[in-house]
Amino acid sequence: MNRFIPLAVFILSAIDAVTAAPAAASSNPLRGGPRLIGYSPTNTVPVDNTETISFQYAPGQTANPDIGLYLDFEKVENPQPIRGDTGGTDPGPRNLNYDKINPDKLAPPGTDTGVATINAQWPLGLSSVTLGKERSGWSREENTNVMPAATKMAGVNMRLEAAGYRELHWHVAAEWAIVLNGSCRIQAVNDEGETFVDDVGEGDVWFFPPGIPHSIQALQNGVEFMLVFDQGSFSETNTFLASEVFAHNPKEVLSKDLGIDISALQNIPEHKLFIFPGTPAPTDIQEQNKTGSAGNIPKNMSYSYHFSEQPPQLLEGGTVKIIDPLSFPIASDFSVAVVTINPGAMREIHWHPSSDEWTFFIQGQGRATLFTPPSEATTFDYMAGDIAYFPQSNSHYIENTGDEVLIVLEVLQADHYSDMSLAQWIGLTPKQIVQDTLNLSNETLSKITTEKKIVVG
Ligand SMILES: *[C@@H]1O[C@H](CO)[C@@H](O)[C@H](O)[C@H]1NC(C)=O
Ligand SMILES: *[C@@H]1O[C@H](CO)[C@@H](O)[C@H](O)[C@H]1NC(C)=O
Ligand SMILES: *[C@@H]1O[C@H](CO)[C@@H](O)[C@H](O)[C@H]1NC(C)=O
Ligand SMILES: *[C@@H]1O[C@H](CO)[C@@H](O)[C@H](O)[C@H]1NC(C)=O
Ligand SMILES: *[C@@H]1O[C@H](CO)[C@@H](O)[C@H](O)[C@H]1NC(C)=O
Repeated sequence: MNRFIPLAVFILSAIDAVTAAPAAASSNPLRGGPRLIGYSPTNTVPVDNTETISFQYAPGQTANPDIGLYLDFEKVENPQPIRGDTGGTDPGPRNLNYDKINPDKLAPPGTDTGVATINAQWPLGLSSVTLGKERSGWSREENTNVMPAATKMAGVNMRLEAAGYRELHWHVAAEWAIVLNGSCRIQAVNDEGETFVDDVGEGDVWFFPPGIPHSIQALQNGVEFMLVFDQGSFSETNTFLASEVFAHNPKEVLSKDLGIDISALQNIPEHKLFIFPGTPAPTDIQEQNKTGSAGNIPKNMSYSYHFSEQPPQLLEGGTVKIIDPLSFPIASDFSVAVVTINPGAMREIHWHPSSDEWTFFIQGQGRATLFTPPSEATTFDYMAGDIAYFPQSNSHYIENTGDEVLIVLEVLQADHYSDMSLAQWIGLTPKQIVQDTLNLSNETLSKITTEKKIVVG
C-alpha cells in the first residue's frame, strides 16, 4: 500500500491542530506550519521493516552484466533494475508497462554507458494522431520535435480508408514511401508538364521530388503507408495544399490565372481538406491517365517502383532486399534495405559510412546498441511501430528478441546502399594486427568470416 498521501495528510492536520502557528500559515490550508521546518525532537521518520520487495529474475539476469543477455521482463513478476551484482530494487513510483517492454533500459547490459548517446528511439504510439474528416483516415509523424538528433530524415505514417484522399499538395522535402497495407493510386504532374499515374500495393514504393505536386487516393480496401522525408524537421502539417493555395489567392487573380469566371470559384473549400473522403477511383486506371503535349513521365524516371515483386536475397539468418538509385533512379538520395531477421538471428554489427540511418520496425521486436565515440553506448528495445535513428558511421546491430520474424526498413540518404560489417573488417585485417590489438587466439581468428553476412543466424 502506498502510505505517502494518507501519512502526509495525517501529519499536516495533526501539526495544524497542536501548533500556535502565525495566523498567515495556520489559516492557509495549502501550506504546513513552521514547526515542520528542519530538526525537532518530536519529529520521527517512520521506519517500515515489514515490507520486502518480492520479485523474480528473468533468465540471464544474474549473469555477468557484460554478457548482456536479452532479459524478457514481460514474463516475470515485478522486474527490477538489476544485472548480475549491479543495480538494486525499485520500490516505485514506476510505470511497469514501460519497464516490461524496455528491459535494456531498466537493466542495461554492463557494456552500456547510460545516457550519453542520442535518443535513438521514437515509438509512433507516442505521436499524436491527426484525424481525417469523416472517417477517411489519419496520420501521425516523427520529426526533430520528438527526436532532436534525427536531423536528416523524418517519417509520417498514414492511413486512408477506401476512396480516402491525401489532398493534392507539394512540399519542400523529397518524399519516399512504402505501402504497408492495402493499395492506393498515386498521381503527379512535373515541371515539364509530364504526367504520372500508377497503382501501388503492399510492399511497393514511390518517390516524389521536392516541389512536385501529387495526390494519393486509397483503392477499395484502404491503404496504410510510411513516408520518409529527407529533412529531419519536416512536418506533415506544413505542406502546400491545393485547398490552401486556392483559399489564399485573391479570387480576381485566380479567375484571371485559370481563365474562368469569379463566380465559378464560389464553392471552393474555405479550409484545408488534408485527409478527406472522395469518390472511388475508376477501376480502369486509363481513365485517369491524363496527358498533355509533353506526354507521360518516361518510364526510367517513374515515381513508382513495384518493389513487392523483387525477390529477397536469402541470408543465413533472414533475407534482404535493396532499393536504391541504381534501380530506382528518380529517388536520387534514398537507399533502402528491407531486412527480415529470424527469431534468434541478428542484423550484424555494422555502420553506414556516408549516411545516417532512419529505421522503421514493420513487424516483430528487436534490440540495438548504438555505439558513439569515444565510449558511449545505449541499448534500445524496439517493437513494430517504432522508429530508430543511428547517426552516420555509428555502429549498431539489430537482434531479434521475439518469437516471430522481425522486419525492418533501413533508410539512408545516399546514392547507393552501403554498410561496413564489423566481422568482415576484422576477418579481412591481417591476423597479426588483430592479435596485437584484440588479443584473440589463432583458433578464434580462424573462425571469423571474411564474407559480409548481413544477417547472422
Ligand atoms: C491489411 O491489414 C489487415 C488487418 O490487419 C489484414 O487483414 C490484411 O491481410 C492486410 N492486407 C494485406 C494485403 O496484407
Ligand atoms: C498512360 O498512357 C500512356 C500512353 O499514352 C502509356 O504509355 C502509359 O503506360 C499509361 N499509363 C498507365 C499507368 O497505364
Ligand atoms: C531515360 O531514358 C532516356 C531515353 O529514353 C535517356 O535519355 C535518359 O538518360 C534515361 N535516364 C536515366 C536516368 O536512365
Ligand atoms: C592476452 O591474453 C592472455 C590470456 O589468454 C594473457 O595472458 C595476456 O596477458 C594477454 N595479453 C595482453 C597484451 O593483454
Ligand atoms: C599464431 O599463428 C602464427 C602463425 O600464423 C604463429 O606464429 C603463432 O605462434 C601462433 N600463436 C599461437 C598463440 O599459437
